Amino acid sequence: MCNKLVVANWKMHGRLATNSGLLDAIRSGVSAQTGAARGVASRVVLCVPYPYLAQTRQSLEDSSVAWGAQNISEHDQGAWTGEVSGSMLADFGCRYVLVGHSERRAFFAETDAIIAAKFAAAQRAGLIPILCVGETLAEREAGVTHDVITRQLDAVLASNGSAAFAQAVVAYEPVWAIGTGQTATPDQAQEVHAAIRGRLARESAGLGDHLQILYGGSVKPGNAAEIFSQPDIDGGLIGGASLVAADFLAICAAA
Ligand code: G3P
Repeated sequence: MCNKLVVANWKMHGRLATNSGLLDAIRSGVSAQTGAARGVASRVVLCVPYPYLAQTRQSLEDSSVAWGAQNISEHDQGAWTGEVSGSMLADFGCRYVLVGHSERRAFFAETDAIIAAKFAAAQRAGLIPILCVGETLAEREAGVTHDVITRQLDAVLASNGSAAFAQAVVAYEPVWAIGTGQTATPDQAQEVHAAIRGRLARESAGLGDHLQILYGGSVKPGNAAEIFSQPDIDGGLIGGASLVAADFLAICAAA
């Protein structure tokens, strides 16, 4: 039975006071789901803003919910003002970190090369990178979705090698579906997920079978079950709906 992975991306949202209720509700809700499912429930990770890592660690310690960050420096230490290294994140008990989110690519000029370097930095620190890939609307309409995804994957493959993907997660997030309420249809998502799996399986047969590929982009309680039922969709990367405990728990239950 497939053990799906559901990852929350809080983006730049949160306050100590409101986080507290959200974390408590997720902690107890996930624990109830795990008990009810007798060990086959989804795995859950919360990727929170840096200032709230300490609070998240304290709230989730001894629970089955893991936590992570949304960004990482490609450097390990040194004079890099404003940057946060992988070893610092590991110090906070992070197990996961997002790399290559489309908002980082679009608004912070993160190139494929920078993202490949961040992916490597995460693994040097013992973190599991969640590599985000996805096409814009213009790219989809131009019929180059597969070329874009392949280019984004190949940049990481070229510098890190296929073996690196054994300790990584890939998230397909079509840019046009993020925060728009316009979800990719299950068929559209499945088609790209199958292509991602196929690309990595060409590098190493076993990799295709074990790699977890998440879908992100307007996943809500009402569409999660259908999306997660696709054969190559191994869970979700959830933005807006992860900020509402009842919605996020409903998505976890659907996984
Ligand atoms: O990383 C999650 C994301 O970009 C999707 O956001 O709000 O469409 O679920 P949202």
